[in-house]
Amino acid sequence: MAVGVFDSGLGGLTVLEAVTKRLPDVPFVYFGDNAHTPYGVRDPQDIYDLTTAGVQCLFDEGCDLVILACNTASAAALRRMQEGWVPHEKRVLGVFVPLIEALTERKWGDNSPPREVGVKHVALFATPATVSSRAFQRELAFRAIGVDVEAQPCAGVVDAIEMGDMILADALVRSHVESLLRRMPKPEAAILGCTHYPLVEDVFRDALGPDVAVYSQPDLVAEALADYLGRHPAMRGAGTESKFLTTGDPRRVSSKATQFLRRSIPFEAADI
Ligand code: DGL
Repeated sequence: MAVGVFDSGLGGLTVLEAVTKRLPDVPFVYFGDNAHTPYGVRDPQDIYDLTTAGVQCLFDEGCDLVILACNTASAAALRRMQEGWVPHEKRVLGVFVPLIEALTERKWGDNSPPREVGVKHVALFATPATVSSRAFQRELAFRAIGVDVEAQPCAGVVDAIEMGDMILADALVRSHVESLLRRMPKPEAAILGCTHYPLVEDVFRDALGPDVAVYSQPDLVAEALADYLGRHPAMRGAGTESKFLTTGDPRRVSSKATQFLRRSIPFEAADI
């Protein structure tokens, strides 16, 4: 019984950490496409091809349910995958919806018409591909009216994190926040719309100041997954072993992952 967790690289580990804590009895198979990260500067076809290859690898590992712990893949590829690629007995879920439900004060599966919500000015920080897909605004429009979203494509941040250059990541985050605040001086809420960003969440919080509510995905996704598995226990799949797979160099990736999560994360080469 294993659930797959997919990301372009190390960012999905922030989600993995939260789902493991929330569901300690569920084995998780993590797939990081470190050889092809970052996805955020790729075109939608490229992201679709890479995401389907990685998710297929997780299906082959015995996962019937895969979480795309990658906003870029969720934004650029998920809908197309669900419409024509995911086999009937498998499920692939993205990470946008739990976040948007939290922002719009909705419960899972509440499909009532869009309505006014508490927040009116929202800052979205995400990769260039996620921002240009406008997937966040689309999902939000299904649930809320009258919310002004200002999106900041955060070029370079994922690259810096993947390289382990946290000084560069810090400087880039501050400059992206500054640039957004010039266009929207008083957001009430900020969305960290990339699973790499919780690794620099304190920098976002510091640069945004204490009056901005920061929405970060890992705990929201963990809650949504617990709820989903409660209602669909059969989707835990046939796999029984937790493991970490990468298309990159397993030694290098393990060392970075261990540094981020502060526990030993032994990656092995993905069979892809
Ligand atoms: N961590 C991913 C996301 O949530 C992907 C970032 C990237 O590869 O550019 O968007």
